[in-house]
Amino acid sequence: TGPFTVAIDGPAAAGKGTIARALAARFGFAHLDTGLLYRAVGAMGGDPVAAAQALRPEDLQRPDLRTLEAGQAASRVAALPGVRAALLTFQRRFARRDGGAVLDGRDIGTVICPEAEVKFFVTASAEIRAWRRWLELGGEAAPDRFEAVLEGVRERDARDMGRADAPLRPARDAILIDTTSQDADSAAEMAVVQVQAVL
Ligand code: C5P
Repeated sequence: TGPFTVAIDGPAAAGKGTIARALAARFGFAHLDTGLLYRAVGAMGGDPVAAAQALRPEDLQRPDLRTLEAGQAASRVAALPGVRAALLTFQRRFARRDGGAVLDGRDIGTVICPEAEVKFFVTASAEIRAWRRWLELGGEAAPDRFEAVLEGVRERDARDMGRADAPLRPARDAILIDTTSQDADSAAEMAVVQVQAVL
């Protein structure tokens, strides 16, 4: 069982993580949430390019990487070509490891692994994505109002799609999954069937 890569791209809170974890569990693939790399770099402070070059596995374990602020900081450092270049080799090696790998992010099918055996592009309306993120953060008990979460989602989408280096967009051969009116678990079941058909 040599390399086999599943690339999953899409905007924040579209359901990429749920689909990636389901595929990893079903097929025994290793899973890399590549957003965590950019979140860790953003959280380190100082020169982002130096931080990306010095990134260690334990930096990905920080408990404060899932916050809205960490997401915004990640998307700012992710626009820097030096940061992206520093994280490239690690992601490519991970993608082509023996036994199969699933990576989720923004540029996996377009830049990191254009040769991936299966590519998915997962989207949903900004409103539904913000709603899900707000519920995850605690809903009425969340520290942020729904409107603030929605504004953050829109801002991050615009920055990720508008940057010059590795902008968020579907690969030409990506399978599109829209989770606006279907939950991520049923989308994951479909994705399992599609990967099974290629394996
Ligand atoms: O997926 P997540 O929300 O954790 O990603 C945080 C930020 O990291 C994204 O908004 C994006 O700017 C950046 N990112 C990226 N390329 C990836 C994964 C994440 O630019 N492959």
